[in-house]
Amino acid sequence: MTLSQLQNAIERHFAAGPAAIGDESAMRTFQLLRAALENGEVRAASPVKDAPSGWRVNAWVKQGILLGFRLGVLTEFPAAGFSFVDKSTFPVRHFGSGDGVRVVPGGSSVRAGAYVARSVVCMPPMYINVGAWVDEGSLVDSHALVGSCAQIGKRVHLSAAAQIGGVLEPVNANPVIIEDDVLVGGNSGVYEGTIVRQGAVLAAGVILTRGTPVFDLVNGTILLASNELPLIIPQNAVVVPGSRAISKGKGHERSREWGLSLYAPVIVKYRDDKTDLSTTLEDLLR
Ligand SMILES: CC(C)(COP(=O)(O)OP(=O)(O)OC[C@H]1O[C@@H](n2cnc3c(N)ncnc32)[C@H](O)[C@@H]1OP(=O)(O)O)[C@@H](O)C(=O)NCCC(=O)NCCS
Repeated sequence: MTLSQLQNAIERHFAAGPAAIGDESAMRTFQLLRAALENGEVRAASPVKDAPSGWRVNAWVKQGILLGFRLGVLTEFPAAGFSFVDKSTFPVRHFGSGDGVRVVPGGSSVRAGAYVARSVVCMPPMYINVGAWVDEGSLVDSHALVGSCAQIGKRVHLSAAAQIGGVLEPVNANPVIIEDDVLVGGNSGVYEGTIVRQGAVLAAGVILTRGTPVFDLVNGTILLASNELPLIIPQNAVVVPGSRAISKGKGHERSREWGLSLYAPVIVKYRDDKTDLSTTLEDLLR
């Protein structure tokens, strides 16, 4: 089946609604999609040069994943004294040494339908959800989450407890995208379709959502999502967690009654030699 035939078949079975349940051809089509996701032939979002955000969401891929949830039945997955229950269509992926992916022992899972490139290192415990893409040379450190359909580029460092939010619904919503050579610091979180451009650095504790204004000290601008575009962190930006005065109500400067401030991520500079030193990954560990 060609990719465009696969797309047509997924769209047809998805549109069939509950009638697809029990339809063997729907199940076969879903399994083809899952295999294509795992070997990197298809992905939930693809880089596209002339798209305004630089990315195109492949809504049909997300439809296919949702189809898998519709078709799956609850199944037990026993594992060495533990028992897990999930949809039969999304078992845990198994890797062999030939896959070139290191999954260090200790409570990690990669769900079926996720792409994990050769040379990725997965430190326990971490979780990579369905539809996610994790490209070559990236490190997913302990307690990190790569949510459903999130796209992680090459040589990205997802530090301990970094949370990359997932999105399946609505089907045309942007997944979170972390481009090549980004460092996502410990305990940070990137959600709601935010795009972090190549080489950017999110310091430990930075949280980004669609509604979070980001203050760029270097250019004197405030970055916001719009109706057309998600929040986009520029290439090589170094973002640290800051705070700002409240502009309304009892927190406003004129009343200051409660003396509050709000969390505000701040771009303090763009990557320089010192940043490179602070963020270089140790080749010996790869
Ligand atoms: C962002 C980071 C990489 C530092 O980058 P850097 O280029 O060396 O930054 P600098 O030290 O030159 O700091 C630039 C400015 O940002 C401030 N800053 C740096 N890191 C900061 C942080 N985490 N929070 C708040 N402010 C920070 C500095 O004080 C400095 O401000 P100033 O010029 O007013 O003094 C580092 O702070 C960081 O967060 N690293 C990730 C740590 C981590 O999560 N490791 C993962 C282990 S699993």
